[in-house]
Amino acid sequence: MANPSLLILPGDGIGPEVMAQVTRIIDWFGEKRDLAFDVEHDLVGGAAYDKHGTPLHDDTMARALEVDAVLLGAVGGPKYDDLDFSVKPERGLLRLRKEMDLFSNLRPAQCFDALADFSSLKKDIVAGLDIMIVRELTSGVYFGEPRGIFEEGNERVGINTQRYTESEIERVARSAFELARRRSSKVCSMEKANVMESGILWREVTQRVRDAEYPDIELSHMYADNGAMQLVRAPKQFDVIVTDNLFGDILSDCAAMLTGSLGMLPSASLGAPNADGRPKALYEPVHGSAPDIAGQGKANPIACILSFAMALRYSFDQGEEAARLEKAVETALADGARTPDLMGPEDGTPITTKEMGDAILKALDASL
Ligand code: NAD
Ligand code: IPM
Ligand code: MN
Repeated sequence: MANPSLLILPGDGIGPEVMAQVTRIIDWFGEKRDLAFDVEHDLVGGAAYDKHGTPLHDDTMARALEVDAVLLGAVGGPKYDDLDFSVKPERGLLRLRKEMDLFSNLRPAQCFDALADFSSLKKDIVAGLDIMIVRELTSGVYFGEPRGIFEEGNERVGINTQRYTESEIERVARSAFELARRRSSKVCSMEKANVMESGILWREVTQRVRDAEYPDIELSHMYADNGAMQLVRAPKQFDVIVTDNLFGDILSDCAAMLTGSLGMLPSASLGAPNADGRPKALYEPVHGSAPDIAGQGKANPIACILSFAMALRYSFDQGEEAARLEKAVETALADGARTPDLMGPEDGTPITTKEMGDAILKALDASL
């Protein structure tokens, strides 16, 4: 049988730096676990704009639709801030998500024991934390029409539209409930039904899907602003959170700090299953291109590495190998491996991006 295919899009800023460590780990699985992938590299974001004048070439888009999974680093950066909106690096990523129809974005936030002291919150608030945010990814205010900047009288008006259909809410709700069945069967749905009609529909539809198809799931509803506060006050009250595109973007960055650093948070963006039962899928860290530290060997590659672990689990049915990789990350951290984002100014000398890769590979070797 042919090897599974992976399209790697490192992108901009720290994207290529963290992805270089993932590539070493992919090679390790090929050599040591007989789990080889056919890997191809291409451009996205500013890097694609520099070469092609577009943040995502049509050929790259077509390959993304063909391969078994896409791994993406990060896009964007100050160099591209003044570009026309239609060719900004972020448009490339949004096009991938939309055309691959990746409606369910899983953003787990897990606090590793070795980092419990390092979170900006008190240790007992975050120790043992393991939650999953399910973010709707292909609709809502990110894509709703009308949108644009228009002349209105003697001034301009900027317009975006929050829009959700029942079927869009149903499918992401189902994906959250399915996931919850494999966890603690508890889902909290977040919207603002108190001020937004789309929130009223969101609440009604998630409840209807639960009542009709998932009576075993305990579903609660919370206003998203309260949800943000509760995430910081007592995050362990949650297991699975399901929410819309924009709230999910913000709440997941907030959840990142529960784990110690934005450099720790992976994600899986999943679509409907193909004929072979495998979902269309893109895996990427939650963080961006981090222009403030790019090119300095300071980036934490763990979010990107854990995104590959999610690929092993969700695209390739390799749950045990995913757990092996997650355990290796945990071991490296327990052994004291720390990039600068995981330490304070008084905490000694940090290691580089590549040295974090070394530490994780060493733990992988020790796992055999
Ligand atoms: P960012 O996530 O790039 O950085 C926020 C802060 O977190 C910075 O201080 C950065 O140094 C730090 N950080 C992020 N990842 C880190 C890592 N792996 N290791 C250590 N520190 C890390 O967000 P931003 O600064 O708001 O955005 C920068 C650019 O990235 C923008 O162009 C934005 O649009 C883009 N962006 C892209 C993605 C993506 O590609 N998925 C996500 C978010 C932001
Ligand atoms: C993310 C990012 C993206 C988003 C941007 C870069 C388009 O912030 O993946 O969290 O807003 O979805
Ligand atoms: Mn974001």
